[in-house]
Amino acid sequence: MHAPMPSVVISRFVIHQSSSQWNHNRFADDVRLGLTAKPKSLPPKYFYDALGSQLFEAICLLPEYYLTRAETEIFERHAAEIVAQMPGSASIVELGSGSSIKTRLLIEAILARQTELYYQPIDISETILEQSASKLLGDYQNLHITAHISDYTNGLSSIARRDGERVLVLFLGSNIGNYTPDEARQLLGQIRGALRGGDGLLLGADLKKSSAIIEPAYNDALGVTAAFNLNLLLRINRELDADFDPARFEHRAIYQEKEGRVEIHLVSRATQSVRINKIGLQIEFDEGEIIHTENSYKYDLAQLYALAEERGFRPQRTWFDSEKRFSCNFWLAI
Ligand SMILES: C[S@@+](CC[C@H](N)C(=O)[O-])C[C@H]1O[C@@H](n2cnc3c(N)ncnc32)[C@H](O)[C@@H]1O
Repeated sequence: MHAPMPSVVISRFVIHQSSSQWNHNRFADDVRLGLTAKPKSLPPKYFYDALGSQLFEAICLLPEYYLTRAETEIFERHAAEIVAQMPGSASIVELGSGSSIKTRLLIEAILARQTELYYQPIDISETILEQSASKLLGDYQNLHITAHISDYTNGLSSIARRDGERVLVLFLGSNIGNYTPDEARQLLGQIRGALRGGDGLLLGADLKKSSAIIEPAYNDALGVTAAFNLNLLLRINRELDADFDPARFEHRAIYQEKEGRVEIHLVSRATQSVRINKIGLQIEFDEGEIIHTENSYKYDLAQLYALAEERGFRPQRTWFDSEKRFSCNFWLAI
């Protein structure tokens, strides 16, 4: 496993980053693997380069993207109750923290009951992590941040704990939805493995509902989600010297009710061939052929409870937004 290297240290802020060459090689390997598979696919974690992270922030403001608003509403109404699930001194670890905007509500609820707070955000996107950490440190004088620019798995193996403190892991924003049921089970097992009995996990999971609500959230009228999806091709152009023409691909999002997931594709508008110079690969596309870029699984409560119990957690409380579209689940590590 790759050892993270501290690269910047100031008083209340430490940031760890795995080497950029290692990340670059990993990206190249995953692109090769995904685009030579049948059907073609690309891992969704690669959406989040500097532009992709900004596009995701824009998605959160769209009228169709109810998820962020619903989870924010839950924290606005219940933050004190949520953090009260873990009495005593606590620190926060957040997987896929992004802008950490919603997290502020939980940070404030914890700082209302203890004098300082240690926050460990883990995110693959360097730009969003640096921006959010700098804003948080400016706004909260009693906050200490150790940030990990890393994949969840590497980040989890590096989390720190101070004596007598319990750890609350946040996995918000329906991030769990990007994983197939088996992958989700595995990741939750890794999270549990990084925790001790008495620690907690707050899991934000989107709920099953009508496709008339779900599909527009991933296919908005302004085309921001389409740009977010297509940026994956531009990223391959930029980082691996490829010649994808984004105008020759189309964004598509379909809710597959039986599987309970939104499938997000890039669809080739024509028969075409694309060259990826840095990995010496030429890829052929038929007209209508897809690259599967993301899944977003939707859950029901029975599935969530079963997952918790199977992975060594006790599902303790669930909160919903007023329209019951989204759930925040507090699970106690047992
Ligand atoms: C859907 S956004 C959610 C951001 C924020 N938690 C929220 O709820 O608004 C996903 C975030 O997770 C990060 N991310 C995605 N896959 C990741 C992975 N495998 N490891 C680490 N971070 C990841 C992205 O960079 C992005 O900031």
